This record gives sequence, structure tokens and C-alpha cells, in this order.
Amino acid sequence: MKALILSGGKGTRLRPITHTSAKQLVPVANKPILFFAIEAIRDAGIRDIGIIVGDTAAEIEAAVGDGSAFGVKTTYIRQDEPLGLAHAVKIAEDFLRGDTFVMYLGDNFIKDGIGPLVHEFQAERPNSQILLARVPNPSSFGVAEIVGGKVVGLEEKPAQPKSDYALVGVYMFDPTIFEAVNAIRPSPRGELEITDAIQWLIDQGKDVRSHVIKGWWKDTGKLEDMLEANRVALLSFDRHVAGSVDPTSRVIGEVVVEEGATVVNSELRGPLIIGAGTEIRDSYVGPFTSVSRGCAIIGSEIEFSIVLENSRIEHLGHRVEGSLIGRNARLVQGETRPRAFRFMVGDNSEIQVPG
Ligand code: DAU
Repeated sequence: MKALILSGGKGTRLRPITHTSAKQLVPVANKPILFFAIEAIRDAGIRDIGIIVGDTAAEIEAAVGDGSAFGVKTTYIRQDEPLGLAHAVKIAEDFLRGDTFVMYLGDNFIKDGIGPLVHEFQAERPNSQILLARVPNPSSFGVAEIVGGKVVGLEEKPAQPKSDYALVGVYMFDPTIFEAVNAIRPSPRGELEITDAIQWLIDQGKDVRSHVIKGWWKDTGKLEDMLEANRVALLSFDRHVAGSVDPTSRVIGEVVVEEGATVVNSELRGPLIIGAGTEIRDSYVGPFTSVSRGCAIIGSEIEFSIVLENSRIEHLGHRVEGSLIGRNARLVQGETRPRAFRFMVGDNSEIQVPG
């Protein structure tokens, strides 16, 4: 069995972060979301992974390489335009060569992995196995219509959803999926939808099984989902302080301070992670916060946030929370008069100041 990870696409909902970087490489708990997918596939016993890449190919390839760091073998498959999930399957046909495969959307985060689901598919050999999860906002997803415990219809982001069962971004297929992706036509949004391809399998009387997952799952396309995934990932951390923490600091709960990080006169209230080479001074870092490598948080308070590499937060008069701070960003208190907000903010950024 092989795996196909989809890591192309545009990532419009995480701009400006994704103006300069692939959305699948935005980290949760200081690890790119894509790495969780690779590890889940490897832990399910699959070693041969094709990765669909688009405009951000160079960056994804630099981060993942030949896969040996993860104990897998990667093959990159170029998709020139994000023409849909079923289009990605189509262009991967040579790589998949008649094998069964699991398709994993590179921005999905499934806390408990996919091992048992893959084994069930391998044992029972249906044509396809899809995963469903109950969600409060089904119209943002592919939605399944279920009659007598069986999926009878699928619709992509319907205005009037027929259930609250969303399609999770992990699918298992045998080679009949190639007949399906070749038979369907682009949807109104101009994409070849995998949802339509699976509907085609159902209409042809093929064996499509569904499995409702109970564990925690998120499509991390949006800021709130990213912060939630970060929160859940940090929950499974154990305390590990390898960096230096001075005696005037207080460390409470599941806190990870990576080697080379320094914490001075600060309070760390876990679960949280502080990346290598980061300096925390005269500050408070609260629960569910991930600070990447090479950052500085000085005289400030932050919680429930993600801070990417080499950013600085200095002497802000208010606590930062619910935030995603990009790479090399500077959030500092100015010393010049008049007292005013001064911004140099990227396109599509969002700033909220206390009222
Ligand atoms: O996350 C689950 C949802 O994923 C399902 O419920 C939907 O049925 C399914 O269509 C998909 O919806 P999204 O709108 O969230 O898909 P998105 O465009 O965000 O693409 C998902 C991943 O696949 C993302 O990592 C980018 C990548 N991708 C996407 C397209 C359209 C590609 O590599 N190539 C593509 O052509």
C-alpha cells in the first residue's frame, strides 16, 4: 500500500503567513502540520509516499527531503495548478501504479493517527473507505448523506447540508478510483472534486465504506483551527526543560524548553513549548503557546498563540492571545512621540487592538 499526501494548493485563508510559506508547513507545537501526516502514515506501516506539490514545491522539498529523516521514501509529484483533489489523484497514477493507497490532505491534523483505519481497509478490501466526523459547521466541508448506516450521497460544501457528518481529509482507495477521476467533470468552483469521484463509485455500486472517527480532527485552513490543533498537540506533551531557566522564573505544568533557549525572570504556565535559541525575559507565557526557534519575548505576556521563527515581542502593554505571528515579525513598544500605533503589516493581515 502507498500514500499520497496533498501539499499543493494556495492557502488563501491563512494569509499573510501563506504569502511567503506553504500552509502545510505552518507549525503546531513547533512541528509543521505536514510532518504529523507523514508520521501518521509511517506509523500505519506505509513507507512509500507520493507528495503532490504546487507553487511551494521548493519549500516543501527542502523541509521533507527524501523522507529518510522520517523513515519513509518520498516521491514529489508536481501539480502546476490546484485543479482539485481528484486532479491530484489523476496526475499521481504513474506513482500509484495499480496499488491501493491512502490519500491524506496535508493540512489535516488527526490526533490519534490512522493505523487501525488503514489495517481495517487492508483486511476488508472495499473499493474505498472514507472517514467522517460530526462537525457544527458542515457546509464548510464535503458532507455525507447517510441512510440506514450507509453513505448514499456526498456533496461538496453544500449550502443546505443533509447531515452534520463531514468528510475528513483522509481517504483510502483501490485502483477503481482512477475510473472515477477520469469519468467526472469539474465542479462549479472549477475543481475536479474527490467528493464527486467517490459519489461516482457509489453510483456504480462499488463498495464504499465509511468510518466515523471519534478522536480529535481538524482541517487547519483557518487561524482558529490552527490554534486549536496547537492546543491539542500540546496537551500530549510531557515536561522537558533542556534550556536554561534562572531561579527567579516559575515553571508550572507541562512545559518544554528546548536546548539553547533561555528563560529569565519569567513565568511559564504550560502546556507550552519554547524553541531552541529563544529568549524569554521578564515575561509571562501562558497555556497553549508555541514559540519557535530564535524568538525573543521581552517584558510581555502571551498565551494561546503560535509564534514562528525569529520573531520579537517586546514591552507590549497588553497581553497577546489567540494570535499567529509570522516569521521575523517585530511587535515592540515604540519610544517616540506621539504615542501611536505604527504598523508595517503584510497584505491580508489582521490586527485587533484592545478597546
Ligand atoms: O479537510 C477536509 C475537507 O478537505 C473535505 O471535507 C472536503 O470534502 C475536501 O474537498 C477538502 O476541502 P478543502 O476546501 O479544505 O480543501 P483544500 O482546497 O483546502 O485542499 C486540501 C489540501 O489539498 C491542502 O493541503 C491543499 C491540497 N491541494 C488542494 C487542491 C484543491 C492540492 O494539493 N491540490 C489541489 O488541487
